[in-house]
Order: sequence, then structure tokens, then C-alpha cells
Amino acid sequence: MKFLAARRRSPLFAPSLLAIALVAVGGAYAAISSAQTAQAADAGQVAIDEGNKLYLTGCSSCHGMQAEGSANGPTLIGVGAASVHFQVATGRMPLAAPGAQAVAKEPQYSADETAQLAAYVASLAPGPAIPTAEQLDYEDADIAEGGVLFRVNCAQCHQAAGQGGALTYGKYAPSLMEATPQQMYEAMVSGPQSMPVFSNGTLPVEEKKAIIAYVSELQVAPNPGGLSLGRVGPVTEGLFLWTAVFAALIGAAVWIGIKAR
Ligand code: HEC
Ligand code: HEC
Repeated sequence: MKFLAARRRSPLFAPSLLAIALVAVGGAYAAISSAQTAQAADAGQVAIDEGNKLYLTGCSSCHGMQAEGSANGPTLIGVGAASVHFQVATGRMPLAAPGAQAVAKEPQYSADETAQLAAYVASLAPGPAIPTAEQLDYEDADIAEGGVLFRVNCAQCHQAAGQGGALTYGKYAPSLMEATPQQMYEAMVSGPQSMPVFSNGTLPVEEKKAIIAYVSELQVAPNPGGLSLGRVGPVTEGLFLWTAVFAALIGAAVWIGIKAR
């Protein structure tokens, strides 16, 4: 204390105190932040290891021990985290029974396990990643533009109102009325089965957001006409016209005929 008191008036006292404080804060920050990055890297490695375990028990029988593929399933090297998340979160994988197409069902893995499986497959080779919150934020997206893009790129298979439709060889494009924004994004970047891949080159992120906004709007939109008839288009509408409306017209004609007599 005497030592400090004696030097307090020296012109070097304040600057040297400041220098000591700066070194202490800087050193502590560097130590903490490097510990944190090390921790994050560890967490990533743990997810990959856990994913590998889940993979070996649940998926390797069809996709091979190293995801190299087998007679029962394609290789997963390079399909990316987005494809795995899409397939597992919609319950398509693990495949229950061979068929024309993997059907969506109750997911078999929890959200954490799905993320671990995706981390494992992504660690094998680069591929489309799971979309970030920013890529899924369609608040400001243009719904009308999304409608145009949807009719150009998606309606030929999923039908103009997103109700889905039949394809060749027993395959079908499913209805989009239950799809979440994340699943829509992942379907576009991974192109499941006979669906084409819409890379960011063909469909930039902004346009993907517009399509997601449009389909999300369709999912909640009320029916302006009152009766949607399943929103499947001219077939049900025509059928309704032929049966119900023509029956009413014939009934009216008969009624007028009876009155005239
Ligand atoms: C019974 C066999 C079988 C099992 C088990 C299985 N798969 Fe598949 N998987 C397939 C077949 C067949 C396809 C291709 C058919 C299709 O996409 O409809 C496929 C496709 C995929 C695709 C899409 C590949 C691509 O090119 O985009 C992913 C991702 C996938 N499987 C992940 C998994 C994961 C993860 C598991 C374990 C949780 C799993 N699968 C379990 C048979 C299987
Ligand atoms: C050539 C036909 C075709 C086109 C074009 C197409 N899809 Fe698909 N889509 C499919 C098929 C087939 C599946 C089902 C794949 C499966 O079950 O493995 C599918 C699945 C989906 C799914 C998953 C739905 C669910 O229930 O899990 C979404 C979401 C989707 N498509 C969105 C789109 C969007 C958005 C576009 C336009 C940018 C589009 N698709 C263009 C054929 C198509």
C-alpha cells in the first residue's frame, strides 16, 4: 500500500494502471472465447458421433455401413443435411415397405435425433444444408409473386392450389396443405424422388421465400366462394355442375310445366 501511495502522484500512474487493466480484460476474454469455440466444436463432434450410432442401427441396412448405398437404397454421400432432415422429419425414412414412392408417416425420430442423423450425413460430404431461420423468414415476401412462381415451377405436379396430383408409374406429388416452411425449403433444395432440385441458381432464396409465403397463405386461406369442392379444379366443379345444378334446372323446368297445365 505504501508502495502504491508513494507513486500515486507520478504522471505514469494512471496510464500504467490502464495498461494493466486492458491486458487483464483482453487475456480473460481470449481465454473464455477460445474455450467456447472448443466447446462448440466438441458439441458438433458429439452430434456427428450420436448420428453415426443412430445411422448404423436404423439406416445402414439399406444405405450401407458408410452410406455408400446398397441394393436396397441409394448412397447418402453428398445428399446433405437438408435431404436427411426432410426425409426423416416427414417420416418417409426409415422406409417401411418397398413401393413406388416413400410415403410420409409419423416421424420415428425426435427432433434432436433427426438433427444428429443430418449432422452425420453432412459430415461425410458437403451438400445442401438445413435452412437457417433467416432463410425461412418469409414475413416480407411477395405472396402474389410467389403465386406466379408456384404456377410456373410447381403447379404441374402439385396442382395450382397445392392439392397434389397423380404422376406416372404409381407415383404422386403429395398435397402441400400440411407442409411446414422448413419442409418446403428442404424439398426444393433436395428434390425428393421425382421432384426436381431447385438450386439457388434456378430459384434464388428470395423466390423460395415468396413460394413458401404463397403456399402458407393457401394453407390458411378461407374459401371466398363458400364451397371449396376440395379445391381440385375443373373435374369436381364440372361434376357438381352436371349433377346438382342440372338436377335443379330440370326440376325447375318440370315445375313450370306442371304449373302451365
Ligand atoms: C428399408 C430400406 C431403407 C431404410 C431402412 C432407410 N432408407 Fe432411406 N431410402 C431408401 C430408398 C429405397 C430410398 C430412395 C427412394 C425414395 O426416395 O423414395 C431412400 C432415400 C433416402 C434419402 C433421399 C436420398 C436423396 O437422394 O435425396 C435419404 C436422405 C434417406 N433415405 C435417409 C435415410 C435415413 C437417415 C434412414 C435411417 C433413419 C433411412 N434412410 C433408412 C431405403 C431405406
Ligand atoms: C415433377 C414434379 C414436381 C415438381 C415440378 C415439384 N414437385 Fe414437389 N414433390 C414432387 C413429388 C413426387 C414429391 C414426393 C416425393 C417423395 O415422396 O419422396 C414432392 C414433395 C414435395 C413436398 C413435400 C410434401 C410433404 O408432404 O412432405 C413439398 C413441400 C414440395 N414437393 C414442394 C414443391 C415446390 C414448392 C415446388 C416448386 C418450386 C415443387 N414441389 C415442384 C413432385 C414435384
